Amino acid sequence: MSKVIGTAVNRKDGRAKVTGTATYAAEHQIPNLVHGYLVTANIANGQIKSIDTSTAEKSVGVIAVFTHKNAPKVFMPSNDFVTSKIYEARLPLSDNKVHYAGQIIGLVVADTFERARDAAHLVKVEYTAQKPLIDVKQASLKEPPPQFGEELKFEKGNITSGMASGTTKFAATYKTSTELHAPMEPHAIIAHWQDADSLTVYEPSQWVAGTQRTYAELFGLPTERVRIVTPFLGGAFGCKAFPWPHGILCAAAARQVKRPLRVVLSRRQMTANSGHRSETEQLISLAATADGSLTVIDHQVKSSTSPVDTFAEPCTGITPVMYTTPNLRMKQELAVLNIGTPTFMRAPGENPGLWALESAMDELAWQLKIDPVELRLKNETKEHQRKGQPFSAKYFADCLRVGAEQFGWKDRPKQPRSLTRDGKLIGWGMAAATFPGLRGKATVKVRLLPDGTAHILTAGNDMGTGAYTVVAATAAEELGLPVEQIRVELGDSLLPDGGLAGGSMMTASLVPAVMSACQQVLKTAKVKTAQEAFTNLRQSGRSALEATASSAPGAEAKKWAFQSWGAHFCEVSIDEEIGRLRVTRWVSVMNIGQVINAKTAASQVRGGVIMGIGQALMEESHLDPNIGYPVVYDLATYHFPAHADIPRIQVAFVGQPDLNFNPAGVRGVGEIGITGVSAAIANAVYHATGKRIRDLPITPDKLL
Ligand code: MOS
Repeated sequence: MSKVIGTAVNRKDGRAKVTGTATYAAEHQIPNLVHGYLVTANIANGQIKSIDTSTAEKSVGVIAVFTHKNAPKVFMPSNDFVTSKIYEARLPLSDNKVHYAGQIIGLVVADTFERARDAAHLVKVEYTAQKPLIDVKQASLKEPPPQFGEELKFEKGNITSGMASGTTKFAATYKTSTELHAPMEPHAIIAHWQDADSLTVYEPSQWVAGTQRTYAELFGLPTERVRIVTPFLGGAFGCKAFPWPHGILCAAAARQVKRPLRVVLSRRQMTANSGHRSETEQLISLAATADGSLTVIDHQVKSSTSPVDTFAEPCTGITPVMYTTPNLRMKQELAVLNIGTPTFMRAPGENPGLWALESAMDELAWQLKIDPVELRLKNETKEHQRKGQPFSAKYFADCLRVGAEQFGWKDRPKQPRSLTRDGKLIGWGMAAATFPGLRGKATVKVRLLPDGTAHILTAGNDMGTGAYTVVAATAAEELGLPVEQIRVELGDSLLPDGGLAGGSMMTASLVPAVMSACQQVLKTAKVKTAQEAFTNLRQSGRSALEATASSAPGAEAKKWAFQSWGAHFCEVSIDEEIGRLRVTRWVSVMNIGQVINAKTAASQVRGGVIMGIGQALMEESHLDPNIGYPVVYDLATYHFPAHADIPRIQVAFVGQPDLNFNPAGVRGVGEIGITGVSAAIANAVYHATGKRIRDLPITPDKLL
């Protein structure tokens, strides 16, 4: 049997994507479709005093105008991350209050998009406005609620005595800016009611089974009366897991006008209404003995949320997993601002958390005159210091050693400002990467057909990350068939529940279920190979052989902590005269358990590194102090890397399958790629210039 798992397999969905036949949410062709355009608030805090829709209603082609005065009825779902979840706990148009600039205050439905948009601008709104609160420094801070059942604070040992026992002490505050989600596919939805109580939703959703339940609860319907269709997503990164207000409003309005309705958000509308990564301010205090053993890690975090939901960027999730110390403390605080609701964005928490910790570790290494790789190796923790469990299949040290070797780290000059090339300062930096190993229950159906093909079906999603290919490669391996003979269908709630494409867990959820379903179909058919099954099918005249199987996490989490690991090494070139920084070399080494597809796994790491370079050098969104609206509003004003900004990114994987985690030993890959990237760059900037930058992004003004 040819070995498929671990080899480089071309994307199953590649042809559909490059030929434009991959259908995204807004592209589904639905007869009789009408169009909605959102009306949004242009104050950031206050009330709607009056809203006059009469002119808009009389405008050509307008079918209906919805505001808080005639808001269609929806029910509050259980909103618990298990049964159902919405991003913003305030239901759309529920009252006349305005909590942030750009908040949805109405929806115009018309026969064309242009007529809906035109009429939306004819809605006249008078407000009672209050001064918006948009600055964390002016906000009162509160303790965030527990996230996924865990409090965002923890303490072990004694910080004061730990500080006293250290001979080298270090403390600094690190900041990250508000970052906007900018997926290639904008947020869009088509809601199609077949009758008053059966709904089909075409929406980019990372979790079709959960979203199906959520819409069912929102409209008081049995789950099976709702269908969510998401065969493709054009990037999601955490902002397409649950319904946003525009989606809820679209579905509600479609029911009222009795026509299939499409709502597409503009990039500007997305800045307020589809999530962002909250700015953070993190105080890290470290103490160590002269040989570099940490005696204290203290991590204090501030982030912000909106008035209508609570999302605390969970920066302290990484604090107990990286380095061993007898005295460990972390705490988070949350400011409520007049800003749209923040949400998950690729490695939420791990990413800004490691920015602070991995910058601080570098600063401490300089202070101690210890190589930063050595300092990390010396302090590596073998157990999760909060859960008290050993890490399973941890190869962090290998990531550090292999990365250092591949990069040529031993040749690094020990002084800042000592490397130059072509009149520019050159700096080398490194940082660690990590992300939890997560998986959920997934169910997969396999069908063997007489034509010699195998179909694999599940509602799990491919966000562009490679799930189609990973599923096909796994089935090819299990059934002993070429990848070309495997057909994969994903992203439709009519298919068996494949779980959530988030938390980098889709691969680790799906692969064991695919293996199990493939084994099951051969067992049920009482054959050893798929070829035998195909022969039997043809001889018996049956149309298909089928099996459905599930795989779910079990008792292993009681014994082990599951976490993926990595290290980034990079080179920057800086022209101090004009403050220009270029990333010129990159090596990432990761341990993610079993690699399923060498090609898409490496692509995931590269994508993460690119996004991290964006965070490090470009991405920020400020609010206008007068109107409280983001001053950036599209893909031209919100800067992120283009190809010319990115060097060749060398990716390698080390370690062994994590067989404590699941039978395939796969932990998945995705978010880990971005973690540590911004710290590696800032550390390289220090090596190049002697200047420590603790405030992202590292824009030219900070380098001059
Ligand atoms: Mo990811 S931020 O869990 O989609």
